[in-house]
Amino acid sequence: MIYTVTLNPALDRAITVDSLLPDDTVRVKTETDYAAGKGIDVSRVIKELGGHSVALGLVGGYDGLRLEGLLLNAGVVSDFTRIAGETRTNILLREESADRQFVISASGPEVSAAELGALFQKIRGLSDAGYLILSGSLPLGVTPEIYGQLILAGRALGAVTVVDADGAALQEAVAHAPCCIKPNIHELERLVDRTLETEAEILAAGRDLLDRGLEQVLVSRGRQGLLLCTRDGALKARGPEIDAQSTVGAGDSTVAGFILARSRGLEVGECLRWSCAAGVATAMTPGTELCHRKDVEKILPQIEVTEL
Ligand SMILES: Nc1ncnc2c1ncn2[C@@H]1O[C@H](COP(=O)(O)OP(=O)(O)OP(=O)(O)O)[C@@H](O)[C@H]1O
Ligand SMILES: [Mg+2]
Repeated sequence: MIYTVTLNPALDRAITVDSLLPDDTVRVKTETDYAAGKGIDVSRVIKELGGHSVALGLVGGYDGLRLEGLLLNAGVVSDFTRIAGETRTNILLREESADRQFVISASGPEVSAAELGALFQKIRGLSDAGYLILSGSLPLGVTPEIYGQLILAGRALGAVTVVDADGAALQEAVAHAPCCIKPNIHELERLVDRTLETEAEILAAGRDLLDRGLEQVLVSRGRQGLLLCTRDGALKARGPEIDAQSTVGAGDSTVAGFILARSRGLEVGECLRWSCAAGVATAMTPGTELCHRKDVEKILPQIEVTEL
């Protein structure tokens, strides 16, 4: 089974209004809630592509229940650990008359040591973890060390550990040698603390990480596609030119496509092809919408995979 872990999920509330008028009542035209979080996105894309996963993570309060219910309706299986604090709500406010969008992001509840311990116990008790995908930011009360501990736990279970994180969490993860990481180019630059302009520079950074015990370094580069460094060599994937609508979740989609293909036993070039196709297909959809299976299938043969 593929397990995804989202430590800091959120309800995204998308609200549209006509005009924002100060000191006046502004009526809401439409209001839609969406269960958000990077690991949750990975689980959604795996489901869309016909695979199975279980979304793990920390949710609390009424909004945590809503988040769980929204995922149930979307057919995404979850097994969250409950916390006392209320799951955060982010506001995505669209002012139609001015064609403007505001994103108001909440920091979320503080997680107690006992709650974190409960999640950890759950993960350590998994009997069928083939893949453990750790994605996203840390909630208040949780230190980056959790990423290292989760990798150790995943390894003890015999799972392939995958990390999509940034900053101190990614640093900590790399120190414990996960099987695979999926930084975007900016996250990779912060990780290795240097600018990476050319393909050769990115590949050199990837090789340094392999020397630290990682097996696969998958680097996403927006419209320039993906680079994959492995001990057997490096590969590059490039998708067709598209009219990108919104790249939100494109990186999460690349993780989902890559790991789903890997879990199906496809060879590494094909895994990269699925990864890139899922990312491109998500970039074609508006807002927080993720890829559609029919788009991914259409794009797959158009992905150019080359050995470097
Ligand atoms: N403008 C674009 N045109 C074509 N493909 C794109 C575009 N943006 C993203 N993609 C595809 O999606 C993949 C992931 O994108 P990106 O590098 O932006 O990930 P990211 O920064 O981790 O995104 P996020 O964390 O928001 O999900 C790219 O490797 C590429 O395949
Ligand atoms: Mg990303």
